[in-house]
Amino acid sequence: MTALLCEEHGPPEALKLRSDAPVPQPGPGEVLIKIHAAGLNFPDSLIIFDKYQFKPALPFAPGGELSGTVTALGEGVTGFALGDTVSALTNWGAFAEYVVAKAASTTPIPDGVDLDVAAAITLAHGTSHHALKQRANLQPGETLLVLGASGGVGLAAVEIGKAMGARVIAAASTEEKLAIAKAHGADETINYTTADLKTAVKALAPKGVDVIYDPVGDKLADPAFRTIGWGGRYLVIGFAGGEIPKLPLNLPLIKGASIVGVFWGDFVARTPDLHQQNMAELYAMLAEGRIKPLISARYPLAQGGEAIRAMMDRQVTGKVIVKAGETA
Ligand SMILES: NC(=O)c1ccc[n+]([C@@H]2O[C@H](COP(=O)([O-])OP(=O)(O)OC[C@H]3O[C@@H](n4cnc5c(N)ncnc54)[C@H](OP(=O)(O)O)[C@@H]3O)[C@@H](O)[C@H]2O)c1
Repeated sequence: MTALLCEEHGPPEALKLRSDAPVPQPGPGEVLIKIHAAGLNFPDSLIIFDKYQFKPALPFAPGGELSGTVTALGEGVTGFALGDTVSALTNWGAFAEYVVAKAASTTPIPDGVDLDVAAAITLAHGTSHHALKQRANLQPGETLLVLGASGGVGLAAVEIGKAMGARVIAAASTEEKLAIAKAHGADETINYTTADLKTAVKALAPKGVDVIYDPVGDKLADPAFRTIGWGGRYLVIGFAGGEIPKLPLNLPLIKGASIVGVFWGDFVARTPDLHQQNMAELYAMLAEGRIKPLISARYPLAQGGEAIRAMMDRQVTGKVIVKAGETA
């Protein structure tokens, strides 16, 4: 099969398009999927440098989520049939024609859902839904501050937060990115390149915000945390900004606030039934038009490295997909 392979750890420009990669075989509890498209995510830019928590053996294809068609079933798999269209989380392997996924991490795609959208909904919307629902217990009428609000997980948090009835303040680095967040449901916006984040949030929410969704970390975490209200929840999502921040522990003390870790991949592995319930809810929100995932760019498989580079250069908004069937 054709696959875009990481043969040695390094930059996306070093990925190699190979046409003779072996088709993986599904083991017990796994399905083989012929890929329609893969969703791009920040972890793709970490895993090729060997800087991610998952460390697959070389060579491997990046690509942690996809949509496609089931073409083989491993031993003991029930609930799927050959020809089913599915979306799945694989953590890596999806920048290729075929990938093996755990059946427990694979979800049937409801009729009428665009396969490009299905390729892009699992990881970002799955993470933000789990974070806001199970980790933050976000309530209607609460105020939600989203950092990196036009990125993959950030824009998903804006959409899902709005769908859950929150007032959403979107924060991002450019006016173009904020316009996208607004178009996807943000009530108010803050440009943290031109404005002081803490001052701007306090002007919009003098009593403090209830939930902070932070996929950026770095220098934004401290000023963001200082805007949290009494009983607030600070969701630790990721560190796209680079540095893992440190926070003085008097800050949560004086606000009666919580710092809440989110590890969606482990949530999927540990509680697959709950994950499937969440995916069913996401597909229902999609059908009702309450979320409208933005696909801002499509790359053929051969240019998957360029897609990763664009993400590393902060040029990506919403979701980008890599089309496994298009190699030129
Ligand atoms: N905890 C979990 O379970 C989980 C699950 C999925 C993803 N994540 C993490 O969430 C983070 C975001 O992932 P994503 O796929 O949404 O990425 P993304 O689409 O690239 O979004 C990241 C956002 O971070 C901001 N950013 C600030 N400094 C940046 C930099 N130096 N390079 C790139 N972006 C920068 C950008 O917004 P501005 O330009 O507006 O600042 C960008 O839109 C990553 O750290 C990822 O590992 C965590």
